[in-house]
Amino acid sequence: MAPPLFDWFVPCPRGLEAPLAAELAEIGQRHLGGAAFKPGAQVPGGVHFRGGWAAGMAANLHSRIASRVLLKIAHGPYRSENDIYELAYQQQWEQWFTPNQTMRVDITAIKSPLRSLEFATLRVKDAVCDRLRELSGSRPSIDTAQPDVRVFAFLTINECTLYLDTSGDPLFKRGWRLDKGAAPLRENLAAGILRLTGWTPGTPLYDPMCGSGTFLAEAAQVALNIAPGVERRFGFEKLKQYDVNAWQKLKVAAVDAKRAARNSRADLQIFGSDISGDMLDKARANLDRAGLPDFPLKQIDARNMTPPADASGILVANPPYGERIEVRGRGPRGEIRDTGRGRRERDEEDDDAFTRAQPDPADTEFFISFGNALKQRFPGWRAYVLTSDRKLPGLMRLRESTKTPLFNGALECRLFRFDLIAGSVRNRPANPDAPREE
Ligand SMILES: C[S@@+](CC[C@H](N)C(=O)[O-])C[C@H]1O[C@@H](n2cnc3c(N)ncnc32)[C@H](O)[C@@H]1O
Repeated sequence: MAPPLFDWFVPCPRGLEAPLAAELAEIGQRHLGGAAFKPGAQVPGGVHFRGGWAAGMAANLHSRIASRVLLKIAHGPYRSENDIYELAYQQQWEQWFTPNQTMRVDITAIKSPLRSLEFATLRVKDAVCDRLRELSGSRPSIDTAQPDVRVFAFLTINECTLYLDTSGDPLFKRGWRLDKGAAPLRENLAAGILRLTGWTPGTPLYDPMCGSGTFLAEAAQVALNIAPGVERRFGFEKLKQYDVNAWQKLKVAAVDAKRAARNSRADLQIFGSDISGDMLDKARANLDRAGLPDFPLKQIDARNMTPPADASGILVANPPYGERIEVRGRGPRGEIRDTGRGRRERDEEDDDAFTRAQPDPADTEFFISFGNALKQRFPGWRAYVLTSDRKLPGLMRLRESTKTPLFNGALECRLFRFDLIAGSVRNRPANPDAPREE
């Protein structure tokens, strides 16, 4: 008998829906021997598909871009919180978990007319608990921090969909990044960006502001065929039913692949640098925990960067955002020195260099120099810069070839692509203070 099929929804950072759909199709081909994912609609913030448990579990284990994998339980119209209660009450939650397990409910809504989403959340929780109590005499308790089971409700203007989460912790938590910088990039956003750049293993990849090493680790795991979820557990492992045999096969294959990667001597052509020695220590510790071989990581001010490989490749960077952390290594005065306490100071009396929230002339100077370094030293490379500052190409005196809207959490960003044409002076004003070409 063919295993049962389900409807699934896979949320992802907004802007990465198409790369996620392509990735899921690839996972089906590579790990399940064919078209295990019957593609459904791509909607802002996620992708629908139809498939069996094996597809849902493979998506959890192998998707680098997904935020979660949700199993659809029910769908129906609603006008009030009572309709939502009824829909939730009618579902056979007892098939999936017991009253001894803890749970939490989350609601997302687009254009819902309901006055209080908090109240709607309570009604879903009440419905699930009431049903289980009536069947068994006891009800699950709520644990918002580390629940065994998560129920998600999604409301549109008049429809409610209920999902059971199969991921547990969000999938960007790979289980290896303990050391974070001030503004680390989520792993699934970094993986999606790598896909958008068209980078493939073997092509040189360089992150000159690598921070805790997210781009580097994601790229190396792609190159070495390491499943992003091989180090972690998943929510479905706590459910009463999932396809245990299929899971064992998927997991064993992923563990074997990781073991093989540990012994790999492949020259990955993946390079990173950062101005901060502390950040590089964190990156090294993270890469090691992720089971990755030693990487060339150097302490360099991005203004002084040079190509790390003979062949041209792809440079990817997520420079400091005005809103989140500050550009370092800037300013005309004094050298930067590392205090060894996770913070850098100028030699001279410091001003508010590390607390300013808005770009200032020193930031401008940094980005002009960074743009100059790209133009002068990286001909033939493609550079991708993720930033929430839409004026960044102007600051860098470079014209982007494309810009892709992406969300880093709630922060709306652009991924700017710059094609650094060998021998071209097109984007290179002689005087850096001259107005930028348009
Ligand atoms: C937004 S963080 C990058 C985060 C990184 N993508 C991650 O996932 O951890 C920006 C990084 O730029 C580095 N940085 C700041 N000024 C720099 C400079 N002048 N040269 C090189 N790196 C710099 C910071 O130390 C920080 O690690």
